[in-house]
Amino acid sequence: MELFTAIKERRSCRSFLSDPVPEDVLEKIIEAGTWAPSPMNAQPWEFIVVTGTEGKAKIYAEGERCRQWALATSGWKWLDKYRVEFLKTAPALVVVVGDPKKTGVDQFLEDGSAGYQYACAAAVQNMMLAAQALGIGSLWYTLFDRNNLKRIMGLAPEKKPLSIICLGQPAGEVSPVGRKPVQDRITFIR
Ligand SMILES: Cc1cc2nc3c(=O)[nH]c(=O)nc-3n(C[C@H](O)[C@H](O)[C@H](O)COP(=O)(O)O)c2cc1C
Repeated sequence: MELFTAIKERRSCRSFLSDPVPEDVLEKIIEAGTWAPSPMNAQPWEFIVVTGTEGKAKIYAEGERCRQWALATSGWKWLDKYRVEFLKTAPALVVVVGDPKKTGVDQFLEDGSAGYQYACAAAVQNMMLAAQALGIGSLWYTLFDRNNLKRIMGLAPEKKPLSIICLGQPAGEVSPVGRKPVQDRITFIR
């Protein structure tokens, strides 16, 4: 698939068929993630692939807990209808784990240590585009408490679970989401 087609046609998928994503396909998608740029090429990521029912159920429980917390805290009505069942039904969840020690010179700045998070975000986008090119639907999911997910995944204390990518064959059409015209978002300083 042509790159610009993949960029434009990728949409967040929140409903998946149960067909498993073959491990070689998952590996190909994750390899695309590892080609993302990172500060000093530190590659501050690890990818944990969860395909088993038990693991997904624990992640779902944390997602659902957070949804309810967010609803109660924000009062945002859409959160009442929003469902995180895809955490159980997506055939594969890729937990993207960042290493704050593997960041760039930004660690010496006052606001410090955002580089590893940017790098992991770039890896996520690479993976989602690779999934799109391979006909796999994806969702970038972040509604969880990092410390809880750390416990669930049995991660070392210094590691940070930053994102979950849900992957699988889309069940039906993914709802279209538009964008504002690019001309409204650009300023050229000539
Ligand atoms: C950093 C980040 C976090 C996101 N977290 C969630 C999430 O927790 N749950 C969810 O359903 N979608 C999440 N999304 C997906 C966005 O809602 C989605 O990208 C946006 O609505 C635009 O739709 P599109 O991806 O179909 O173009 C996240 C996206 C980004 C970039």
